[in-house]
Amino acid sequence: MTSRTSAETRPSKTGAPLIRMERVRKEFGRDIVAVSDMSLTIERGDFISFLGPSGCGKSTALRMIAGLLPITAGHIDIAPSQTDTEHDLGFVFQEPTLMPWATVFENVWLPLRLAGLSRTAASDRVRAALVEVGLSRFENAYPRELSGGMKMRVSIARGLVTRPRILLMDEPFAALDEMTRTKLNNDVIRLATEHDLTVIFVTHSVYEAVYLSNRIAVMAARPGRVVADLTVNAPWPRGEEYRVSPEFSAEAKRVSTILKGTLDDADIDH
Ligand SMILES: Nc1ncnc2c1ncn2[C@@H]1O[C@H](COP(=O)(O)OP(=O)(O)OP(=O)(O)O)[C@@H](O)[C@H]1O
Ligand SMILES: [Mg+2]
Repeated sequence: MTSRTSAETRPSKTGAPLIRMERVRKEFGRDIVAVSDMSLTIERGDFISFLGPSGCGKSTALRMIAGLLPITAGHIDIAPSQTDTEHDLGFVFQEPTLMPWATVFENVWLPLRLAGLSRTAASDRVRAALVEVGLSRFENAYPRELSGGMKMRVSIARGLVTRPRILLMDEPFAALDEMTRTKLNNDVIRLATEHDLTVIFVTHSVYEAVYLSNRIAVMAARPGRVVADLTVNAPWPRGEEYRVSPEFSAEAKRVSTILKGTLDDADIDH
């Protein structure tokens, strides 16, 4: 792991550790070591990408942080919330995983419903989340009536409706066309800034990682582990001017070069 300097430009970052992973290991059965010795401290306000080839344990690491998978060894500590909200974590999966028989409203309501909130009690928050992702006119639509990008927006609204401090996103835009992906990248930056979120974002794309993040944890496979912890040198928040700037190209090139040096068998798209 390389050392990190604090060349941070995102204003909400405080430097306070929020998630601490220490020598985390995950085995599946006897033979598969999905994650080995993963140590990483994520600070409040970080936007960190897990970047690496298929099978290097990105999803496994994210699921362990979310508490969706038990860990085999090591530990993960998440600093207690000051506001003491129940739902500290929102999770957005690669597939939108919407209930096809339920409306957009009902899909976004789900986490609050599971927490015991009636439709009426939840409605302000559901509607606010739909406004955030630009879908307020579609609350009565069904998933089959929506484009891929709109379905993903519903999934993001569902991840945000509990007002989490931490948003975990597992390759959320991999299946979308480039224009939709670009638009959603900008929306995620806006949402992270407005809600002061700490985001962990899994991606295969160097460009996406550089555009979105202030940090990139580069992972390698066999066994899955973190091989570099990079600081992205760029202003925050970012917008379209940054995407077309020479600084962005230079930064993507720098990260690609580090990746090439780090991973002999990288299959990352860039
Ligand atoms: N439930 C499981 N049972 C057995 N092996 C698993 C299970 N889940 C993951 N693995 C294995 O653990 C390793 C890491 O998988 P993981 O899905 O975390 O990788 P990934 O980096 O997310 O890959 P991708 O980019 O393809 O999504 C792989 O070798 C995978 O086959
Ligand atoms: Mg994965």
